[in-house]
Amino acid sequence: MRPEIAEAVALLRGGELVAFPTETVYGLGADAANPAAAAKIFSAKGRPADHPLIVHLPSGDHMARWARDVPAEAERLAAAFWPGPLTLILKRLPDVPDAVTGGQDTVGLRVPNHPLALELLAAFDGGIAAPSANRFGRISPTTAAHVREELGARVPLILDGGPCPVGIESTILDLSRGRPVLLRPGAIGAADIARVIGHVPEMAVPQMDAPRVSGSLEAHYAPRTPLQLVSSDGLLFALRDALVAGERVAVLAPTAQAISHDLVAWRQVPADPAGCAHDLYASLRELDALGCARILVQKPPAGEIWLAVNDRLSRAAAGSGENDET
Ligand code: TXA
Ligand code: MG
Repeated sequence: MRPEIAEAVALLRGGELVAFPTETVYGLGADAANPAAAAKIFSAKGRPADHPLIVHLPSGDHMARWARDVPAEAERLAAAFWPGPLTLILKRLPDVPDAVTGGQDTVGLRVPNHPLALELLAAFDGGIAAPSANRFGRISPTTAAHVREELGARVPLILDGGPCPVGIESTILDLSRGRPVLLRPGAIGAADIARVIGHVPEMAVPQMDAPRVSGSLEAHYAPRTPLQLVSSDGLLFALRDALVAGERVAVLAPTAQAISHDLVAWRQVPADPAGCAHDLYASLRELDALGCARILVQKPPAGEIWLAVNDRLSRAAAGSGENDET
């Protein structure tokens, strides 16, 4: 076993935290079978204890150690998408710690598709509970440096697997209610799920499903700088207003920098959904660090393929007010 994996396993077995990369975002991991270890996640993140954690597994074979009454759809989805960015919510077995499930009768499971995560999980040979490795309500980390920025000395070991290839959190599908409900959109879309189970899952209703819907709290995934979603025309008006007011503004847009000015910091993101998701959090984090009056984000197109990116952007904008709804 490589020394860093051996060290990580020893820490986990000793009830300590280890941050590790997944294909989506970095996770802050603890032994999911150890309630005291899982409790450390909540204090390191500053996260309310009733928010359930996802249990990461080495393979789909481990599903039966955590969940009961596993429907055939779960087996089919696991076979199709694991390892991969899909979390399945299933009825839990009684010995799954309440610290992990937030006291709910369900548990979230996924097998992440990242070589370092899979190496760690295989060596640990158990479930690793891990939320995104950021302080509560902040932007999820997609590099080891982001984790250090967020948690620093609160985590004894950060495994560095480079930038996360997907860049936004996993799709969450609730299979505990008798009918599939999509709780959080991600890289695996409703159409991908429909191809496997034969029908499109229901979409969660945020108010009704809170707090079970991920990030249903206001200002989740949010930069500190107020973030405003604007159309491409709206972007030019908002820029003009900011410059008239002498404000420094940051811009995130799929187009090249339209205006060169001391007061404007511009980051271009790829114009396709996967490329945009990959760069999204790192770009927002960079712009957030500049201390501008606001971050103007050009709203991506509507539609299924942009659902996950639009979801994260609208959460990031929640609480900032004045968003352009056109
Ligand atoms: O991509 C990801 O899912 C990343 C990586 C590290 O795997 N993890 C992640 O964890 O985003 P976190 O804790 O930041 O978001 C997981 C969300 C929670 O907000 C929670 O609402 C939801 O998953 N969740 C977990 N268990 C659940 C359950 N039993 N029922 C409903 N929602 C659950
Ligand atoms: Mg999170």
